[in-house]
Amino acid sequence: MDRNIEYRNGQMTMESVTMRQIAAAVGTPCYVYSAAGMERAYRRLEAAVLASKIPTTICFAVKANPNLAVINLFSKLGSGADVVSGGELERALRAGIAAERIVFSGVGKTRAEIARALEVGIGQFNVESPSELAMINRLAAAVNLVAPVVFRVNPDVDAATHAKISTGKKDNKFGIAIDEIPSLWQLALKLPNVKLLGLAVHIGSQINELGPSRQAFIKMRELVLNLRSQGAVIERLDLGGGLAISYRGEKTVAPEDFIALISEVIGDLGCQLILEPGRYLVGDSGVLLTEVLYRKSQSGREFAIVDAAMNDLMRPALYGSYHHIVPVAEAADGAPLTPFDIVGPICESTDSFTSGRELPPLAEGDLLAFLDAGAYGASMSNGYNSRPLVPEVMVKGDRFDVIRPRIGAEEFYKFDKLCNEC
Ligand code: LLP
Repeated sequence: MDRNIEYRNGQMTMESVTMRQIAAAVGTPCYVYSAAGMERAYRRLEAAVLASKIPTTICFAVKANPNLAVINLFSKLGSGADVVSGGELERALRAGIAAERIVFSGVGKTRAEIARALEVGIGQFNVESPSELAMINRLAAAVNLVAPVVFRVNPDVDAATHAKISTGKKDNKFGIAIDEIPSLWQLALKLPNVKLLGLAVHIGSQINELGPSRQAFIKMRELVLNLRSQGAVIERLDLGGGLAISYRGEKTVAPEDFIALISEVIGDLGCQLILEPGRYLVGDSGVLLTEVLYRKSQSGREFAIVDAAMNDLMRPALYGSYHHIVPVAEAADGAPLTPFDIVGPICESTDSFTSGRELPPLAEGDLLAFLDAGAYGASMSNGYNSRPLVPEVMVKGDRFDVIRPRIGAEEFYKFDKLCNEC
Protein backbone atom coordinates (compact mmCIF):
# COMPACT_ATOMS: atom_id res chain seq x y z
CA MET A 1 0.00 0.00 0.00
CA ASP A 2 1.09 3.57 -0.66
CA ARG A 3 -0.28 6.27 1.67
CA ASN A 4 2.41 5.61 4.34
CA ILE A 5 0.54 2.55 5.53
CA GLU A 6 1.42 -1.09 5.10
CA TYR A 7 0.88 -4.38 6.87
CA ARG A 8 3.77 -5.31 9.14
CA ASN A 9 3.51 -8.66 10.86
CA GLY A 10 -0.11 -8.75 9.81
CA GLN A 11 -0.96 -5.39 11.41
CA MET A 12 -1.78 -2.19 9.55
CA THR A 13 1.03 0.21 10.34
CA MET A 14 1.28 3.91 9.55
CA GLU A 15 4.89 5.05 9.45
CA SER A 16 5.99 2.92 12.45
CA VAL A 17 2.83 2.90 14.55
CA THR A 18 0.18 0.19 14.36
CA MET A 19 -3.46 1.12 14.07
CA ARG A 20 -4.19 -1.41 16.81
CA GLN A 21 -1.97 0.57 19.19
CA ILE A 22 -3.81 3.79 18.40
CA ALA A 23 -7.26 2.22 18.69
CA ALA A 24 -6.27 0.81 22.08
CA ALA A 25 -4.95 4.17 23.30
CA VAL A 26 -7.55 6.54 21.85
CA GLY A 27 -10.60 4.38 21.17
CA THR A 28 -12.63 4.30 17.98
CA PRO A 29 -13.78 5.93 15.84
CA CYS A 30 -10.75 8.16 15.34
CA TYR A 31 -8.86 9.80 12.53
CA VAL A 32 -5.17 9.03 12.13
CA TYR A 33 -2.85 11.12 9.97
CA SER A 34 0.66 10.58 8.69
CA ALA A 35 2.87 13.64 9.11
CA ALA A 36 5.33 12.14 6.61
CA GLY A 37 2.56 11.69 4.04
CA MET A 38 1.44 15.30 4.31
CA GLU A 39 5.00 16.54 4.12
CA ARG A 40 5.72 14.37 1.09
CA ALA A 41 2.70 15.73 -0.78
CA TYR A 42 3.68 19.32 0.01
CA ARG A 43 7.31 18.76 -1.02
CA ARG A 44 6.27 17.17 -4.30
CA LEU A 45 4.07 20.10 -5.24
CA GLU A 46 6.69 22.56 -4.04
CA ALA A 47 9.37 20.87 -6.15
CA ALA A 48 7.15 21.10 -9.24
CA VAL A 49 6.51 24.77 -8.53
CA LEU A 50 10.21 25.53 -8.00
CA ALA A 51 11.10 23.76 -11.23
CA SER A 52 8.67 26.02 -13.10
CA LYS A 53 10.56 29.11 -11.85
CA ILE A 54 7.26 30.98 -11.54
CA PRO A 55 7.15 32.72 -8.15
CA THR A 56 4.36 30.83 -6.38
CA THR A 57 2.87 30.70 -2.91
CA ILE A 58 1.16 27.46 -1.95
CA CYS A 59 -1.75 28.34 0.33
CA PHE A 60 -3.11 25.22 2.05
CA ALA A 61 -6.93 25.23 1.80
CA VAL A 62 -7.68 25.00 5.50
CA LYS A 63 -11.21 23.67 4.96
CA ALA A 64 -9.77 20.30 3.93
CA ASN A 65 -8.30 19.71 7.38
CA PRO A 66 -8.35 22.58 9.84
CA ASN A 67 -6.68 20.91 12.83
CA LEU A 68 -4.06 23.31 14.23
CA ALA A 69 -1.41 20.57 14.12
CA VAL A 70 -2.06 20.06 10.42
CA ILE A 71 -1.99 23.76 9.55
CA ASN A 72 1.11 24.14 11.68
CA LEU A 73 2.84 21.31 9.81
CA PHE A 74 2.26 23.14 6.53
CA SER A 75 3.20 26.47 8.08
CA LYS A 76 6.58 25.02 9.04
CA LEU A 77 7.04 23.80 5.47
CA GLY A 78 6.51 27.37 4.24
CA SER A 79 2.87 27.20 3.23
CA GLY A 80 0.39 30.04 3.38
CA ALA A 81 -3.33 29.45 3.93
CA ASP A 82 -6.56 29.78 1.99
CA VAL A 83 -9.39 30.48 4.44
CA VAL A 84 -13.13 30.85 3.93
CA SER A 85 -14.36 32.05 7.32
CA GLY A 86 -13.33 34.03 10.36
CA GLY A 87 -12.89 30.73 12.19
CA GLU A 88 -10.43 29.44 9.61
CA LEU A 89 -8.62 32.78 9.66
CA GLU A 90 -8.10 32.52 13.43
CA ARG A 91 -6.95 28.92 13.09
CA ALA A 92 -4.41 29.81 10.43
CA LEU A 93 -3.02 32.65 12.53
CA ARG A 94 -2.95 30.51 15.66
CA ALA A 95 -1.11 27.77 13.78
CA GLY A 96 1.64 30.21 12.85
CA ILE A 97 0.80 31.32 9.31
CA ALA A 98 1.82 34.94 8.74
CA ALA A 99 -1.19 37.13 7.93
CA GLU A 100 0.30 38.29 4.65
CA ARG A 101 0.39 34.67 3.47
CA ILE A 102 -3.35 34.24 4.01
CA VAL A 103 -5.92 34.56 1.24
CA PHE A 104 -9.60 34.87 2.11
CA SER A 105 -12.07 33.24 -0.32
CA GLY A 106 -15.80 32.72 -0.10
CA VAL A 107 -19.01 34.25 -1.44
CA GLY A 108 -20.36 35.42 1.89
CA LYS A 109 -17.74 37.12 4.01
CA THR A 110 -19.44 38.92 6.90
CA ARG A 111 -18.63 42.47 7.95
CA ALA A 112 -17.02 41.18 11.14
CA GLU A 113 -14.87 38.73 9.17
CA ILE A 114 -13.73 41.40 6.72
CA ALA A 115 -12.94 43.82 9.56
CA ARG A 116 -10.87 41.19 11.35
CA ALA A 117 -9.01 40.24 8.17
CA LEU A 118 -8.19 43.93 7.62
CA GLU A 119 -7.10 44.30 11.22
CA VAL A 120 -4.60 41.44 11.03
CA GLY A 121 -3.46 42.43 7.53
CA ILE A 122 -4.15 39.40 5.35
CA GLY A 123 -2.44 39.17 1.97
CA GLN A 124 -5.48 38.96 -0.28
CA PHE A 125 -9.25 39.13 -0.38
CA ASN A 126 -10.76 37.03 -3.18
CA VAL A 127 -13.75 39.18 -4.04
CA GLU A 128 -16.79 37.35 -5.37
CA SER A 129 -19.30 40.15 -6.12
CA PRO A 130 -19.53 43.90 -6.75
CA SER A 131 -21.40 44.30 -3.44
CA GLU A 132 -18.62 42.59 -1.56
CA LEU A 133 -16.09 44.86 -3.25
CA ALA A 134 -18.04 47.92 -2.10
CA MET A 135 -18.27 46.52 1.42
CA ILE A 136 -14.53 45.83 1.65
CA ASN A 137 -13.79 49.34 0.37
CA ARG A 138 -16.15 50.83 2.96
CA LEU A 139 -14.80 48.82 5.88
CA ALA A 140 -11.18 49.52 4.86
CA ALA A 141 -11.96 53.24 4.63
CA ALA A 142 -13.37 53.18 8.14
CA VAL A 143 -10.01 52.05 9.51
CA ASN A 144 -7.88 53.95 7.03
CA LEU A 145 -6.47 50.91 5.29
CA VAL A 146 -6.16 49.77 1.71
CA ALA A 147 -7.38 46.20 1.20
CA PRO A 148 -5.44 43.96 -1.23
CA VAL A 149 -7.98 42.34 -3.53
CA VAL A 150 -8.25 40.01 -6.50
CA PHE A 151 -11.45 39.26 -8.37
CA ARG A 152 -12.58 35.66 -8.36
CA VAL A 153 -13.59 35.00 -11.94
CA ASN A 154 -16.37 32.62 -12.87
CA PRO A 155 -15.00 31.35 -16.19
CA ASP A 156 -18.04 29.23 -17.11
CA VAL A 157 -16.05 26.01 -17.38
CA ASP A 158 -17.30 22.58 -16.42
CA ALA A 159 -14.79 20.95 -14.09
CA ALA A 160 -16.13 17.50 -15.04
CA THR A 161 -16.18 16.48 -11.40
CA HIS A 162 -19.02 15.67 -8.98
CA ALA A 163 -21.83 18.23 -9.47
CA LYS A 164 -21.79 19.06 -5.76
CA ILE A 165 -18.15 20.13 -5.81
CA SER A 166 -18.11 21.89 -9.17
CA THR A 167 -17.82 25.66 -8.88
CA GLY A 168 -16.83 27.17 -12.21
CA LYS A 169 -20.06 27.05 -14.28
CA LYS A 170 -21.89 30.30 -14.85
CA ASP A 171 -24.96 29.09 -12.97
CA ASN A 172 -22.89 28.33 -9.84
CA LYS A 173 -22.94 30.91 -7.05
CA PHE A 174 -19.19 31.38 -7.22
CA GLY A 175 -17.14 34.21 -8.62
CA ILE A 176 -17.94 37.12 -10.90
CA ALA A 177 -19.03 36.40 -14.48
CA ILE A 178 -16.00 36.69 -16.72
CA ASP A 179 -17.55 39.31 -19.02
CA GLU A 180 -18.32 41.60 -16.09
CA ILE A 181 -14.71 41.75 -14.94
CA PRO A 182 -13.43 44.54 -17.25
CA SER A 183 -16.12 47.05 -16.20
CA LEU A 184 -15.76 46.11 -12.54
CA TRP A 185 -12.01 46.59 -12.82
CA GLN A 186 -12.52 50.17 -14.07
CA LEU A 187 -14.97 50.81 -11.27
CA ALA A 188 -12.63 49.39 -8.64
CA LEU A 189 -9.83 51.72 -9.77
CA LYS A 190 -11.96 54.56 -8.46
CA LEU A 191 -12.25 53.01 -5.00
CA PRO A 192 -9.54 54.53 -2.81
CA ASN A 193 -9.45 51.78 -0.18
CA VAL A 194 -8.88 48.72 -2.34
CA LYS A 195 -5.76 47.81 -4.25
CA LEU A 196 -6.37 45.55 -7.24
CA LEU A 197 -3.67 42.91 -7.45
CA GLY A 198 -5.09 40.51 -9.99
CA LEU A 199 -7.49 37.66 -10.55
CA ALA A 200 -8.45 34.30 -9.06
CA VAL A 201 -10.16 31.21 -10.38
CA HIS A 202 -11.22 27.89 -8.84
CA ILE A 203 -13.44 25.63 -10.91
CA GLY A 204 -13.97 22.73 -8.54
CA SER A 205 -12.50 19.96 -6.45
CA GLN A 206 -11.30 16.41 -7.16
CA ILE A 207 -10.56 17.37 -10.78
CA ASN A 208 -8.89 14.38 -12.37
CA GLU A 209 -8.23 15.54 -15.89
CA LEU A 210 -6.27 18.48 -17.27
CA GLY A 211 -8.81 19.62 -19.87
CA PRO A 212 -11.09 21.73 -17.66
CA SER A 213 -8.13 23.48 -16.00
CA ARG A 214 -6.63 24.16 -19.42
CA GLN A 215 -9.88 25.76 -20.57
CA ALA A 216 -10.09 27.88 -17.44
CA PHE A 217 -6.45 28.98 -17.59
CA ILE A 218 -6.76 29.91 -21.27
CA LYS A 219 -9.75 32.07 -20.41
CA MET A 220 -7.77 33.68 -17.59
CA ARG A 221 -4.89 34.36 -19.95
CA GLU A 222 -7.20 36.04 -22.45
CA LEU A 223 -8.74 38.09 -19.67
CA VAL A 224 -5.35 39.23 -18.37
CA LEU A 225 -4.27 40.27 -21.88
CA ASN A 226 -7.56 42.05 -22.46
CA LEU A 227 -7.37 43.94 -19.16
CA ARG A 228 -3.72 44.83 -19.73
CA SER A 229 -4.59 46.22 -23.16
CA GLN A 230 -6.85 48.62 -21.27
CA GLY A 231 -3.99 49.63 -18.98
CA ALA A 232 -4.65 47.33 -16.03
CA VAL A 233 -1.72 46.28 -13.87
CA ILE A 234 -2.10 42.60 -13.05
CA GLU A 235 0.62 41.17 -10.90
CA ARG A 236 -1.05 38.17 -9.31
CA LEU A 237 -3.03 35.12 -10.40
CA ASP A 238 -4.62 32.76 -7.90
CA LEU A 239 -5.36 29.47 -9.63
CA GLY A 240 -7.26 27.83 -6.78
CA GLY A 241 -7.12 24.20 -5.69
CA GLY A 242 -8.81 21.12 -7.07
CA LEU A 243 -6.03 18.56 -7.57
CA ALA A 244 -7.53 15.12 -7.15
CA ILE A 245 -6.38 12.07 -5.23
CA SER A 246 -7.05 8.48 -6.26
CA TYR A 247 -9.80 7.06 -4.04
CA ARG A 248 -10.37 3.83 -5.94
CA GLY A 249 -7.43 3.55 -8.29
CA GLU A 250 -8.73 6.14 -10.76
CA LYS A 251 -6.24 8.18 -12.75
CA THR A 252 -5.45 11.62 -11.35
CA VAL A 253 -3.53 14.64 -12.54
CA ALA A 254 0.10 14.55 -11.39
CA PRO A 255 1.11 17.83 -9.74
CA GLU A 256 4.05 18.05 -12.16
CA ASP A 257 1.63 17.93 -15.11
CA PHE A 258 -0.63 20.51 -13.49
CA ILE A 259 2.27 22.91 -12.99
CA ALA A 260 3.54 22.21 -16.52
CA LEU A 261 0.10 23.19 -17.82
CA ILE A 262 0.23 26.42 -15.83
CA SER A 263 3.70 27.20 -17.20
CA GLU A 264 2.55 26.47 -20.72
CA VAL A 265 -0.59 28.59 -20.62
CA ILE A 266 0.27 31.51 -18.38
CA GLY A 267 3.98 31.16 -17.62
CA ASP A 268 4.88 34.12 -19.84
CA LEU A 269 2.49 36.57 -18.17
CA GLY A 270 4.97 37.55 -15.47
CA CYS A 271 2.45 37.09 -12.67
CA GLN A 272 3.10 35.76 -9.19
CA LEU A 273 0.94 32.73 -8.53
CA ILE A 274 -1.12 31.52 -5.62
CA LEU A 275 -2.29 27.91 -5.42
CA GLU A 276 -4.94 26.73 -2.95
CA PRO A 277 -4.63 22.93 -2.72
CA GLY A 278 -6.52 21.17 0.04
CA ARG A 279 -7.37 17.56 -0.70
CA TYR A 280 -4.12 16.82 -2.53
CA LEU A 281 -2.01 17.83 0.49
CA VAL A 282 -3.87 15.82 3.13
CA GLY A 283 -6.36 13.41 1.56
CA ASP A 284 -4.38 10.22 1.22
CA SER A 285 -2.49 10.76 4.48
CA GLY A 286 -5.45 10.06 6.75
CA VAL A 287 -7.54 7.07 7.74
CA LEU A 288 -10.65 6.77 9.86
CA LEU A 289 -10.42 3.83 12.25
CA THR A 290 -13.59 2.11 13.31
CA GLU A 291 -14.63 -1.05 15.14
CA VAL A 292 -17.27 -3.53 14.05
CA LEU A 293 -19.94 -3.40 16.78
CA TYR A 294 -22.36 -6.01 15.45
CA ARG A 295 -23.01 -8.28 12.53
CA LYS A 296 -26.36 -9.25 11.17
CA SER A 297 -27.73 -11.05 8.14
CA GLN A 298 -31.03 -9.70 6.89
CA SER A 299 -32.94 -10.24 3.65
CA GLY A 300 -29.90 -11.84 2.13
CA ARG A 301 -27.62 -8.95 3.05
CA GLU A 302 -24.64 -9.08 5.34
CA PHE A 303 -24.47 -6.02 7.57
CA ALA A 304 -21.48 -4.90 9.59
CA ILE A 305 -22.54 -2.16 11.98
CA VAL A 306 -19.52 -0.07 12.85
CA ASP A 307 -18.96 2.58 15.51
CA ALA A 308 -18.21 5.33 12.95
CA ALA A 309 -21.18 7.06 11.38
CA MET A 310 -22.09 9.67 8.82
CA ASN A 311 -21.47 12.41 11.37
CA ASP A 312 -17.80 11.32 11.55
CA LEU A 313 -17.28 10.89 7.79
CA MET A 314 -20.01 12.54 5.74
CA ARG A 315 -18.63 12.07 2.24
CA PRO A 316 -20.31 8.74 1.40
CA ALA A 317 -23.72 9.91 2.68
CA LEU A 318 -23.43 13.36 1.12
CA TYR A 319 -21.83 12.65 -2.25
CA GLY A 320 -21.98 8.87 -2.57
CA SER A 321 -18.18 8.97 -2.29
CA TYR A 322 -16.08 5.84 -2.32
CA HIS A 323 -13.45 5.09 0.32
CA HIS A 324 -11.48 1.86 0.44
CA ILE A 325 -12.38 -0.02 3.62
CA VAL A 326 -9.70 -2.42 4.80
CA PRO A 327 -9.25 -4.63 7.85
CA VAL A 328 -6.63 -3.46 10.31
CA ALA A 329 -5.53 -7.08 10.90
CA GLU A 330 -4.40 -8.45 7.55
CA ALA A 331 -6.78 -11.05 6.15
CA ALA A 332 -5.40 -14.56 5.71
CA ASP A 333 -4.23 -15.39 2.21
CA GLY A 334 -7.15 -16.72 0.20
CA ALA A 335 -9.74 -15.59 2.78
CA PRO A 336 -13.17 -15.73 1.11
CA LEU A 337 -14.72 -12.39 0.14
CA THR A 338 -18.35 -11.62 0.99
CA PRO A 339 -20.41 -8.57 -0.03
CA PHE A 340 -20.96 -6.43 3.06
CA ASP A 341 -23.07 -3.39 3.80
CA ILE A 342 -21.03 -1.28 6.20
CA VAL A 343 -23.34 0.99 8.17
CA GLY A 344 -23.15 3.30 11.16
CA PRO A 345 -25.35 3.60 14.26
CA ILE A 346 -27.22 6.78 13.24
CA CYS A 347 -30.98 6.57 12.88
CA GLU A 348 -31.09 7.32 9.16
CA SER A 349 -30.86 4.99 6.20
CA THR A 350 -28.35 7.32 4.61
CA ASP A 351 -25.91 6.43 7.40
CA SER A 352 -24.34 3.81 5.19
CA PHE A 353 -20.75 3.84 4.00
CA THR A 354 -21.08 1.22 1.31
CA SER A 355 -23.33 -1.53 0.06
CA GLY A 356 -22.23 -4.92 -1.25
CA ARG A 357 -18.52 -4.27 -0.73
CA GLU A 358 -16.46 -7.45 -1.09
CA LEU A 359 -14.55 -7.94 2.16
CA PRO A 360 -12.92 -10.80 4.03
CA PRO A 361 -14.86 -12.24 6.99
CA LEU A 362 -15.78 -9.62 9.59
CA ALA A 363 -16.57 -10.27 13.24
CA GLU A 364 -17.59 -8.15 16.21
CA GLY A 365 -14.57 -6.33 17.59
CA ASP A 366 -12.66 -6.27 14.30
CA LEU A 367 -11.04 -2.97 13.40
CA LEU A 368 -11.48 -1.44 9.96
CA ALA A 369 -9.86 1.56 8.32
CA PHE A 370 -11.48 3.91 5.83
CA LEU A 371 -8.62 5.06 3.63
CA ASP A 372 -8.06 8.49 2.08
CA ALA A 373 -10.02 10.21 4.81
CA GLY A 374 -7.51 12.97 5.57
CA ALA A 375 -9.39 15.63 3.57
CA TYR A 376 -12.96 16.71 4.31
CA GLY A 377 -13.27 13.95 6.91
CA ALA A 378 -12.77 15.37 10.40
CA SER A 379 -13.31 18.83 8.93
CA MET A 380 -16.93 18.01 8.06
CA SER A 381 -17.64 15.93 11.17
CA ASN A 382 -20.34 17.02 13.57
CA GLY A 383 -22.24 15.94 16.65
CA TYR A 384 -25.48 14.65 15.10
CA ASN A 385 -27.37 12.20 17.31
CA SER A 386 -25.37 13.78 20.16
CA ARG A 387 -22.46 11.63 19.18
CA PRO A 388 -19.07 12.88 20.33
CA LEU A 389 -16.82 14.73 17.92
CA VAL A 390 -14.36 12.23 16.53
CA PRO A 391 -10.78 12.50 17.85
CA GLU A 392 -7.72 13.02 15.65
CA VAL A 393 -4.25 11.57 15.97
CA MET A 394 -1.03 12.53 14.19
CA VAL A 395 1.61 9.88 13.61
CA LYS A 396 5.22 10.87 13.18
CA GLY A 397 7.75 8.05 12.83
CA ASP A 398 7.30 5.73 15.79
CA ARG A 399 5.34 8.26 17.85
CA PHE A 400 1.83 9.62 17.82
CA ASP A 401 -0.01 12.52 19.40
CA VAL A 402 -3.71 13.09 20.02
CA ILE A 403 -4.23 16.38 18.20
CA ARG A 404 -7.93 16.59 19.11
CA PRO A 405 -9.48 14.51 21.89
CA ARG A 406 -12.91 13.00 21.70
CA ILE A 407 -15.26 15.88 22.50
CA GLY A 408 -18.29 14.42 24.17
CA ALA A 409 -21.95 15.22 24.70
CA GLU A 410 -21.22 16.94 28.01
CA GLU A 411 -19.00 19.49 26.31
CA PHE A 412 -21.77 20.15 23.80
CA TYR A 413 -24.66 20.45 26.22
CA LYS A 414 -22.82 22.63 28.68
CA PHE A 415 -23.66 25.48 26.29
CA ASP A 416 -27.37 24.60 26.17
CA LYS A 417 -29.47 26.53 28.64
CA LEU A 418 -32.86 25.68 30.03
CA CYS A 419 -35.38 28.28 28.93
CA ASN A 420 -36.32 30.58 31.81
CA GLU A 421 -39.65 31.46 30.26
CA CYS A 422 -40.78 27.85 29.81
N1 LLP B 1 -10.09 27.06 -3.11
C1 LLP B 1 -11.42 27.26 -3.09
C2 LLP B 1 -11.94 28.59 -3.42
C3 LLP B 1 -12.29 26.20 -2.78
O1 LLP B 1 -13.61 26.39 -2.79
C4 LLP B 1 -11.75 24.92 -2.48
C5 LLP B 1 -12.62 23.79 -2.15
C6 LLP B 1 -10.35 24.77 -2.49
C7 LLP B 1 -9.54 25.86 -2.82
C8 LLP B 1 -9.68 23.47 -2.18
O2 LLP B 1 -10.01 22.51 -3.11
P1 LLP B 1 -9.26 21.10 -3.10
O3 LLP B 1 -7.81 21.35 -3.48
O4 LLP B 1 -9.37 20.51 -1.75
O5 LLP B 1 -9.97 20.33 -4.15
N2 LLP B 1 -16.32 18.55 0.78
C9 LLP B 1 -15.99 18.15 -0.57
C10 LLP B 1 -14.99 19.10 -1.21
C11 LLP B 1 -15.46 20.53 -1.22
C12 LLP B 1 -14.43 21.48 -1.80
C13 LLP B 1 -14.84 22.89 -1.60
N3 LLP B 1 -13.89 23.86 -2.07
C14 LLP B 1 -15.49 16.72 -0.55
O6 LLP B 1 -15.47 16.10 0.51
O7 LLP B 1 -15.16 16.15 -1.60
